[in-house]
Amino acid sequence: MTSSKKVRKAVLPVAGLGTRFLPGTKAVPKEMLNIVDKPVVQYVVEEAMAAGIEHVVFVTGRNKAVIEDHFDIQYELNDTLKNRGKNAELEMLNSMLPKAGATSFTRQQEPLGLGHAVWCARDIIGDEPFALLLPDMVMQDKQGCLSGMMDLYNNTGGNVISVEEVAMEDAHKYGVVGVGEELDGGFEITGMVEKPARGSEPSNLFINGRYILQPEIFDILETQERGAGNEIQITDAMLKLADQQKFSGYRFEGNTYDCGTKQGFILANVAYAMERDDIRGLVEDDIKKLVG
Ligand code: G1P
Repeated sequence: MTSSKKVRKAVLPVAGLGTRFLPGTKAVPKEMLNIVDKPVVQYVVEEAMAAGIEHVVFVTGRNKAVIEDHFDIQYELNDTLKNRGKNAELEMLNSMLPKAGATSFTRQQEPLGLGHAVWCARDIIGDEPFALLLPDMVMQDKQGCLSGMMDLYNNTGGNVISVEEVAMEDAHKYGVVGVGEELDGGFEITGMVEKPARGSEPSNLFINGRYILQPEIFDILETQERGAGNEIQITDAMLKLADQQKFSGYRFEGNTYDCGTKQGFILANVAYAMERDDIRGLVEDDIKKLVG
């Protein structure tokens, strides 16, 4: 039977070293780099919360403690803001604070792949469906990506993966899905390949870093062999789970910025600055001049 239990928890794997952003990420986790004035990871947590997620599980690693601090109260800072009458800032900090007890932090001790990072969250997730959000991918849309996926999940149950179109020559950088029958708000997934060899891509729809998964994925990850890049891959585990359970695809149509790359991160900064009434006017003309 297809499970459609409520999705209450989300996993955010944040253990990656961020070597593409050295030296910036020597002491600061890549997830804490700012887009305008807010860390990358916070955009993703806000997307999760907007979709009804009640508890966020961060799978961290060494040198990531500052992420935990970011989602905690900073008494000294709050005190100083209060004494200086900076009430708007204080309110903003309070409004972004997760409820007490609504976050968990566990560590991926070794970098064995995304599938392994997800498996590290198994005890905290327990026997219920969960959302998986890859924080490198920052998604800008009126309705958050995960929220749209929840709508589809409420129709289909099972597992839901978000995808979007990519130029065929770039498909080999991602996980790619095969497309079956159209559903109300999505489509049936007929196959999945992680980093397909050029010419063997099942479609031009790549997995963009948002998933709703059933807990049986953990049993598969437990015994998972290594796949592409000699890493334990979530895509391979999903492919095995698809023998027993339904997988539906959700086509995300907003803007996605891959903040694991320099170009994606820079574009995200420009895109979010243009959305902000307090910043757009200050930088728009200068950006136009700079890019000629
Ligand atoms: C991971 C997933 C891949 C997905 C991608 C999205 O790959 O394994 O299926 O398309 O994220 O960013 P990674 O970026 O870890 O190589």
